[in-house]
Amino acid sequence: MIIIVDFGSQTAHLIGRRVRDLGVDVEIVEPERVLRQAQNLRPKGIIFSGGPASVYAPNAPTIDKRVFNLGIPILGICYGQQLTAHLLPGGETKKGTKREDGPATLVIDQPCPLFKGVSANSRIWMSHGDTVISPPKGFRFIAHSETIKSAAMMNEEKRIYGVQFHPEVEHTVCGATVLRNFIESICGLVVSKRRLATKQLIRTIKEQIGGAKAIAAVSGGLDSTVAAALVAKAIGKNLIPIHVNNGLMRKGTVEMVKDFFTNKLGVKPIILDTEKLFLDALKGKTDPEEKRKIIGKLYIDLFQQEVLKHPEAKYLVQGTIYSDVIESKGSKHAANIKSHHNVGGLPEDMQLELVEPIREYYTDEVRIIAKKIRIPQRFITQQPHPGPGFAIRIIGEVTPARLEITRKADEIIVEEMIKAGWYKKLLHSFAVLTGASSTSVKGDGRVYGEVVAIRALVSKDRMTADWPNLPYSLLQTISSRIMNEIPEISRVVYDITTKPPATMEWE
Ligand code: XMP
Repeated sequence: MIIIVDFGSQTAHLIGRRVRDLGVDVEIVEPERVLRQAQNLRPKGIIFSGGPASVYAPNAPTIDKRVFNLGIPILGICYGQQLTAHLLPGGETKKGTKREDGPATLVIDQPCPLFKGVSANSRIWMSHGDTVISPPKGFRFIAHSETIKSAAMMNEEKRIYGVQFHPEVEHTVCGATVLRNFIESICGLVVSKRRLATKQLIRTIKEQIGGAKAIAAVSGGLDSTVAAALVAKAIGKNLIPIHVNNGLMRKGTVEMVKDFFTNKLGVKPIILDTEKLFLDALKGKTDPEEKRKIIGKLYIDLFQQEVLKHPEAKYLVQGTIYSDVIESKGSKHAANIKSHHNVGGLPEDMQLELVEPIREYYTDEVRIIAKKIRIPQRFITQQPHPGPGFAIRIIGEVTPARLEITRKADEIIVEEMIKAGWYKKLLHSFAVLTGASSTSVKGDGRVYGEVVAIRALVSKDRMTADWPNLPYSLLQTISSRIMNEIPEISRVVYDITTKPPATMEWE
């Protein structure tokens, strides 16, 4: 097994995922406990994750230096490399004055087992402020990039390695090879293929819930559908699916939910039509976090009222997946990015025990599970829609009129993406009502209207994302249709920002 030390990186658990994918067991531990855990568990290797802190920050997470003397191979990623240089004699990490976030090119300077099979000038993903400027005694730099000398370093004799880039993210082309090399060639573990055992998942749910009843919050998205379907397969009609229709979802969502649960799973869902309540609550609100919180709270209040009508239910099923947990501060040293309303937002007095069957899985794994349990294709191929829906894609106040404009623009974008064969290739393609206004001339009249942005993203793991090189002809069609079909829109722009640094949603 491998120990992963979590310094609070958004991707610490993604490293775990990549290692688990190689059929190797993983234990994720906090820095404070790594020495003790390494002595107890005797792992074949230790990986230090990245993290949001600088090694010079007060209370920056650190480890007991004796970890370096255990004779266990170590790979430090980003902050993990910087901390290695900071802690060991002769090494120096320099505090950065500006950040480097996004793609770079890896140039390998010296042969090293970590880079076996990695092609020259491979694309890597960077996300850092500080940089190692001098390797510790016994180490040498083995690769550089356009901007830094220390893209990687090693102490071959002690089997301690460091990389400044993130091998765990999909946009680092050689990332899987680098991790595999570390696990296989440096730690000496045998790699194999990981299996997703849905029968086991269903059995575990059955054991947890037994003969009790469970309520499931079903949004129509893939995650909550898969979670509820797994539970339905475990407990049948003892499942009570509830769909809160907040009016902020895409067209057709309610019908899809009704049809699937009633006709495919044999459990009729309860639909709460509450669009007006949400719009009333959002009246006059413009602050993104306040909007999210209002939606989250109202959702929970409405849900709770419904739950009270079913005192026989003892469990609550949620479609939480791993990236939700991490982005909502799932790890001790992580920075809080956004308050997702679907994680950890339950009032304690609800007195329902949580069932989260897919909490350990990433989105691409959830898709595999969905296929295995025969969830209809339209749930699987649909792009995810966030819980607060269009409200976080409408910058400023969410009025009925602005919601309508956004929904129309969104429909046009989705329709054209499908027609052009792009929809399935993208994690997201949606409209953002940017809150900016501009002038246009429509017919013979001047229109001072709203600016819509097209946001399209490619991402497998949802932790990083790139904007696609969409054909100009497709952008042109979308732009013309939006300008012609929605009188209130005066301009269409295309958002060309990667994640990181930008988040996928505008709010
Ligand atoms: P960001 O904008 O944080 O988005 O890069 C990452 C992914 O999460 C989705 N997202 C949400 N999903 N409730 C959700 O259920 C939320 O509050 C929320 N905020 C963002 C977003 O659509 C993207 O897929």
